[in-house]
Order: sequence, then structure tokens, then C-alpha cells
Amino acid sequence: MSKVTGLGVDDEAFLVSSLIDRCPKVMMLRELVQNAIEAARQCPDLKQVRIGTVEVEGVRKLRIWNTGPGMDADALYRMCDLASSIGKVKGLDRNFGMGAKVASLPSNHHGVRYRSCAAGRVSEVTLGKRDGVYGRLLRPQPGRVYRPGAERLVDVADVTELAVDDGLPVDHDWTEVVLLGQEPGQDTAIDPYHGDPASKPYWLPQALYHRYFDLPADVALVVEPGLHWFKAPRRFEPLKRRATTAFAGYEAVPAGQGITIHYLHDPQHAARPQENASSEDALQASSSLIAVVWRNEMYEVQHGSPWFYEAPIFGFTFGGRHLSVLIELSDDYPLLPDMYRQFLRYEGSEQQQVRTKDFAALVREKQPGWVRSIARRTTEGRAVNAAIVNEFGSLAGRLGLDQLSEGDKAAEGEKAEGSKGKASVTAPKEKDVSATSDAFAGVRKACGVEPVLLRNPVDVRDRWLEGRAACFYPETQQLFINMGYDGLLRFQGQLHDAAAPLADKETLRQLVEDVTEGHFVRRLVRAVLFGLAKHLNSKNWQKGHIEKAISPEALSTAADDFDDLLPGALAAIRDHLASRPLDASPSPEPALPLPV
Ligand SMILES: Nc1ncnc2c1ncn2[C@@H]1O[C@H](COP(=O)(O)OP(=O)(O)OP(=O)(O)O)[C@@H](O)[C@H]1O
Ligand SMILES: [Mg+2]
Repeated sequence: MSKVTGLGVDDEAFLVSSLIDRCPKVMMLRELVQNAIEAARQCPDLKQVRIGTVEVEGVRKLRIWNTGPGMDADALYRMCDLASSIGKVKGLDRNFGMGAKVASLPSNHHGVRYRSCAAGRVSEVTLGKRDGVYGRLLRPQPGRVYRPGAERLVDVADVTELAVDDGLPVDHDWTEVVLLGQEPGQDTAIDPYHGDPASKPYWLPQALYHRYFDLPADVALVVEPGLHWFKAPRRFEPLKRRATTAFAGYEAVPAGQGITIHYLHDPQHAARPQENASSEDALQASSSLIAVVWRNEMYEVQHGSPWFYEAPIFGFTFGGRHLSVLIELSDDYPLLPDMYRQFLRYEGSEQQQVRTKDFAALVREKQPGWVRSIARRTTEGRAVNAAIVNEFGSLAGRLGLDQLSEGDKAAEGEKAEGSKGKASVTAPKEKDVSATSDAFAGVRKACGVEPVLLRNPVDVRDRWLEGRAACFYPETQQLFINMGYDGLLRFQGQLHDAAAPLADKETLRQLVEDVTEGHFVRRLVRAVLFGLAKHLNSKNWQKGHIEKAISPEALSTAADDFDDLLPGALAAIRDHLASRPLDASPSPEPALPLPV
């Protein structure tokens, strides 16, 4: 005998519409394609999904078609209800019986038309929203003639004759979904969300590429012309299948505890510098990316500028534009997708959302040598000499920061959820330091902060440093410095003018650059050290306050004030010129004065 009376639903219409309206619109394609794949897999012979277009009343609409067991009128009626899964296993990490409806209806109030062929008969139902209510649309049974006033309306219609007229086969099962959009005139192939959000041309292959890391090997997913720039239908190949053929480098590194890290290198395209080489003859653009992969699907995908910006956190000091990382968690990793499968959560306790950053330390640590050599271009050490390194060391000691170089203090919050959401993965320490083969390794050893000088405008843009002096990445303790910063250029201009009578232009240019760059780097490293020290030395300064104190904006204003540095810089130039033999060219490392 049951010990409870199960809970029911008091206001069903409200529950249904709230479940639908809450679903992120962008999940639509995934849900429809996933259904198509799940059905096609069950087809004994031709396992195929075709995504293309069809005209409905003269307007182009997106169409997803698949083989596999079809639905008869009764099954088609039932599948429209929520929590209705037919022939699949329902479960929190399996099927919910909702995907198709909740993900497509927010963007298709006008209609989502389902046609399915089962045992030679084709049934059709259109879901939509009328007078504020989601449901199956009623219409007269096609092909029947009724006496006026005696029409009988149906929700599921038999459309076998119509389908045959349209050239559709009835000798095997299939299912077709056509998205009618928000209104009859909407072209859902190019504008699936009716402008909200706006879609880029050929959005579809990109959306597939950013979701499916792999597909069942036996299912062919074909994308028809009109949805990409090729004239013939093309088979969609997911990233994992292209890894060894379209990329210059690929390695899958087992990282233990059910985690595999995939590293991919995609160099610049020879003829199109804005693109990567893998875009050649591909359905989709080729921007590098990072994502978490679970059961062949990608979550928290970041690509383009946001990925280039975050790449150093994952150990890519340079090269984020050409390096991709996929953090794959095993099928049995204790995760739960959220209700709409937009995010993953760790099972148990607080069910935190899974983030790529949770695995940043692991991605750094497991980096293969060939990736490391792409990611760690050496930077020129000209701006820093031994005196400055010593100065940083003693300043760090004075501020109590000397431990910083050993432990990843500032990145304390960064705990990987490896080991099934429990153990932390330690941040790389000495390993990272030894990888820095340039002059700045010394600075890092001395004070825990590693300056990385950026002289290439693309690197400056990728660190979001245009118009800014520097940015600090606490996870790796790297301080990226924009050597084209206008404050530095102004400093150089003024020093140049002040020193003009002292030497010829060329000698002076080199000297002014060395002296000002030294001051610039020093001011920024010192500002960061003072900022970090606040955390250690004052209870009133918490993480957020420190972030503000060493933000790119705060560092830029600190670097703008060089008036007080001018006299010392001029004196350094004088000293250098005075100590130089008359015919000698300037040494590459002038001795800079200690702080003024
Ligand atoms: N393209 C399709 N081909 C064949 N059957 C389909 C197709 N789309 C949906 N169905 C049937 O309709 C049912 C409901 O689909 P829906 O996407 O709403 O839920 P689900 O796939 O069972 O679960 P989930 O919430 O995980 O998507 C499916 O279980 C399946 O039987
Ligand atoms: Mg589904």
C-alpha cells in the first residue's frame, strides 16, 4: 500500500507555459537535432539526419528530417505533452520528455509542424501558441469536404496523400520537423529567432559545431545548401572527427579521475590571416575555443575574443587564437545537466555549475611539450636588469609577499572539481617558472609576479589592453604589459625632448626607450605588488577590493603619472652618456637608477 499521495499540478496551463517560456531559445537546434539522431540510430539500415529547408506558403522554413521509427497518429498526439518520452529511458541524466516542445515553442508561436511516417501512413500535428495558450493547433482534416457549418476540426491529421504529392517516401519510417517561426513571413532558415537574438548568416553549421564534439559513428548528419556556403549537400563532421585531419596538432591527454584533455593547434590560414587553417573547405568558421565535453556534447563554449582573453589562465601566455582545449569528462562522471541542458552541474552538495575554469590548473599542468612551445613565446628582457630584479625581490619581502612566488596565493579560489567534484587539482608552480626561459623568470622568482611584455598589436587586443597599460592574471601571476600604451609613448616623447641636446637622434631613441620602458615596467610591477600586499596586510581588503586595486584601469592611471620620473630618467641618460666611450654605441642594458 502506498505511503504517500503523490503531488499533482493545480494549474497545468501555467506550469506548461512557464516551462516553455523559461527555456533558453538557443537550445532549440540541439533538442531537435538530438531527437533526430536518437531516432536515426534506431534505423536498421539508413541512419540519416538531413537539415535543410522547405517552402511553406512561399516562405522558406528550416526543416529537420530523420530516418528511424516514426510515430503514428496516437504517438504523435502523445509526444506533444510535456514529460512524454516515447521509447526512451527517462531520467535526470537521460531523457526528460520535454526537449522538442520546450526548446522550439518559445521561437515558434506560429507553429512547429511535425510529420511522421509510420508503417506507410503519414500523420501531422502542428504545435503553436494561440490566445496565450500552447497546444496542438486545430484545423480541418485535409482532403475532406464538409458542409458549411459542419466542419470537423482535428489536431492530428492524416496527410499521407499530401506527403506523397510533396515527393516524400512512404516505404520506410521517417519524421520531419518544420519550424514555422513567429509569423508566416519569417524565413526560419536564416532567422530562426525572429531577430531576438539576431543570427549570423550560416549560423547553423556553427551552432552544430559548438555543440557536438562527436556524433554516433553510424549516423550521417547532412546539411543541405542554403544553410552553408557550398552548392551541394555536405556531411557535418564534428570537431573530434576533424582533429587529426584538419588540425596541425592534436593530442588527447588522460588526466586521471575520468578526465581527458584534448589539445588542438590550428595555425593561421595561409591566405586569410583572420582565419585559422582548419576553415579550408569546412562547413563552419575556425575560431579556436574552449569547452567542457560530456557525452559528446560541449558546454560552456568560449571562442573568439573571450577565449583569447582567458587563454593565459589555461597556460597559453600566447597563442590562444590558434589553440583549442576540450575538457572531456567521462560518461559516468557524476554530473547532472540542468533542465534545459544549457549547463552542467556537479552532482551532490551545492550542485555547482561546471566551469572550464575549474580545470584550468589541470589544463596548464598537462600541457604537452609541443603545445607549451606554441603557448610560451619568449619575451624580450631588455626593460629589466639585475638592479630592478633585486628591487622587486626586496620590495616583495618588505611587503610580506615573498611566499607568493612559491604558492599560487592569488589563485587560492581556483579549485578544480576534478576527482568527482571533491579533490582539488594543484596549480603548477615551479614547472611554469622553468618554462619561462627569458629574463622575466628572474622577476617571477624574486617577487612572484611575471611581467610579459606585449609589443604586437594583436597580442594587445587579445588581452583587451587597447588604451590600457597592463592586466594581471592572478591564476598564473602574469602581468601583461602593453608596450604601445599611449602613456608610455607620452613619457618617451617628453624625455626625448628634454634629452635632445645631449646626443644624436638615433643614440637617444634607443636610450630613451630603454630607460622609459624600465620605469614603466617597474611602476606597474610595483603597483601590483602593493595591491597584492593589501590582501595579506589588511583585514579590510578582500578579494574584490584587490581586483579593483590592480585592475587594468587602476594600473593605467598609475602608469600615466610619470612627471616625477622624468628628472631621474634624464639623469640616467646623462650618466649613461657620460660613462660611454666616445665612439661606442649604446649598450643594450643601461643601468637604470633605483626608484626616485
Ligand atoms: N525526430 C524525431 N523522430 C522520431 N521520434 C521523435 C522525434 N522527435 C521526437 N520524437 C519522439 O517524441 C518524444 C518526445 O520528444 P521530446 O524531445 O519532447 O522528449 P525526449 O526526447 O523523449 O526527451 P528530452 O527531454 O530528453 O528531449 C521522443 O521520446 C520520441 O519518441
Ligand atoms: Mg528530445
